[in-house]
Amino acid sequence: MAKVVVTRKIPGNGIKLLQDGGFEVVVSPQDRALERSELLNFIQGADGVLGQLYEKVDEEYLNAAGSQLKIVANFAVGTDNFDLPSLLSHNVIGTNTPDVLTETVAEHTFALLMAISRRIVEAHKLALTEVSTFGPEVLLGIELKGKVLGVLGLGRIGSRVAEIGKAFGMNVTYYDIKQNADFETKVGASFRATPEDLLKEADVVSIHVPLLDSTKHLINSERLKLMKPTTYLINTSRGPVIDENALVEALKNGTIKGAALDVGETEPKWAPGLIDLPNVVLTPHIASATLEARSAMGELAAKNIIAVLSGQLPLTPVKQQ
Ligand code: DGY
Repeated sequence: MAKVVVTRKIPGNGIKLLQDGGFEVVVSPQDRALERSELLNFIQGADGVLGQLYEKVDEEYLNAAGSQLKIVANFAVGTDNFDLPSLLSHNVIGTNTPDVLTETVAEHTFALLMAISRRIVEAHKLALTEVSTFGPEVLLGIELKGKVLGVLGLGRIGSRVAEIGKAFGMNVTYYDIKQNADFETKVGASFRATPEDLLKEADVVSIHVPLLDSTKHLINSERLKLMKPTTYLINTSRGPVIDENALVEALKNGTIKGAALDVGETEPKWAPGLIDLPNVVLTPHIASATLEARSAMGELAAKNIIAVLSGQLPLTPVKQQ
């Protein structure tokens, strides 16, 4: 009987699907990230692994699992934890969970944007003091209608964020390595040929690029300086896309107005000084955390494993870049 290990408990029917598929399914008893040594031990002898985005799948991992391993199904759409050449050389298929979390992550992007632009966290703290109520100048924020939303990366999530921005009455611009004329017509978005062009005019910059060598520190101190002092920066992609130390400086100096981040450069820690700033809203990598999305992610990961271990093609394979 083929063995599938699940490195952390997941919501929904994913585990049941695997059990019904006739596999021996072993779920980590720890509801936490496994230490590296625990993980390497846990995956030993597995034919398939349903794993988490914080687990680096590299030579060490693949050697520890053993040559019977056929698939690592990431419980995430992002796959920067995969060393793709190593997966290829070990003949192991990697899969991810595209589409099923798009709506949820796009909604969280707007939750962050609304929270920073309407100062919801500051307002919540003030309300708890029971000493302040309506005041003409208390906690003024900005309206989104008519503002320029600059979407960096027009993949699935970036596209959905652009559509929601339109529904808020925002003027949407986007930068991507590929121009998408159909999307421009359908949604009414305008292409900018470089990140710089986008950053100079956006009132809100929302990041939706994958983490690659080419996108690491895409937002650095030079690019932050191009942005307007009234601009908000939102990130629900991957932390290292922003040079977080440079962002702290930019927020302290008023180079930009504020930032709302779901992801950090060295999770779960934030760059020194970030958490002390008033013009920041932070969430701990929860952009896909709805029951709907997380259940669907588990089910898609399970279906990928079932397909591959039954000799069929995976539903959502990760392609070598
Ligand atoms: C992903 O799927 O890559 C997200 O970061 C997890 O929510």
